[in-house]
Amino acid sequence: FESAVLDGCHVVITAGPTREALDPVRYISNHSSGKMGYALARAAQEAGARVTLISGPVTLTTPDRCQRVNVSSALEMLDAALNVVSDCDIFIASAAVADYRPAAVAEQKIKKSGDEIQLTLVKNPDIVATIASHAERPFTVGFAAETTDVAAYAKGKLARKNLDMIVANDVSQPGIGFNSDDNAVTLYWPDGEQAFAAMSKQALARELILAIAQRYTAVLGD
Ligand code: PMT
Repeated sequence: FESAVLDGCHVVITAGPTREALDPVRYISNHSSGKMGYALARAAQEAGARVTLISGPVTLTTPDRCQRVNVSSALEMLDAALNVVSDCDIFIASAAVADYRPAAVAEQKIKKSGDEIQLTLVKNPDIVATIASHAERPFTVGFAAETTDVAAYAKGKLARKNLDMIVANDVSQPGIGFNSDDNAVTLYWPDGEQAFAAMSKQALARELILAIAQRYTAVLGD
């Protein structure tokens, strides 16, 4: 790897899906495998950073020398992020956080009854936006998983969530995005962008960490 561009930095990365419980045996979730976030954790560690990986439920092995904090729901992920925010230089949100959770978690398994049932969902807090508006704000990088109008939605999230950078992927494309080994993304910041063609998530993670480190250093120097 290129010399230790992140020496002395504490990088916090969220990865994987969240699970939003409906009852003791069921949950709402998504297809995130954690591969993108774990690759970023490995790349940041190799670039000299101390890495905390806040991970939803995945089946991956913890990268060497990374500290892993296991969480399940979005609310738990938010708590874990807030626990480290005041001691964090760079926060990278690659997790696929559920936007909504069931309004109530049934204490007992929900019984099969009529032909239809209705679920009421309530909005989860936005973790990356909360971190980006915190008093002790780290350099904050989000992701945008889109299926249409990728650039416009990503730039909207960059501004609305008060982020320093955002990594946009078109998750409607086969072979990239959720659960695949490869990804193709465009990185946006307020006055620039850089596109990365499809490659393995590990190779991409190295490039993204390098680009993030460059921008982080430039912003620090301002
Ligand atoms: O895990 P893999 O299988 O390797 O797949 C990688 C990936 C496709 C999950 C990853 O590349 C990716 O796009 N991650 C973000 C997924 C997502 O939920 O994107 P979003 O556009 O819905 O969210 C935008 C940003 O807000 C993200 O940084 C997300 O972490 C964050 N967010 C969203 C909702 C919420 N309640 N809190 C958040 O922090």
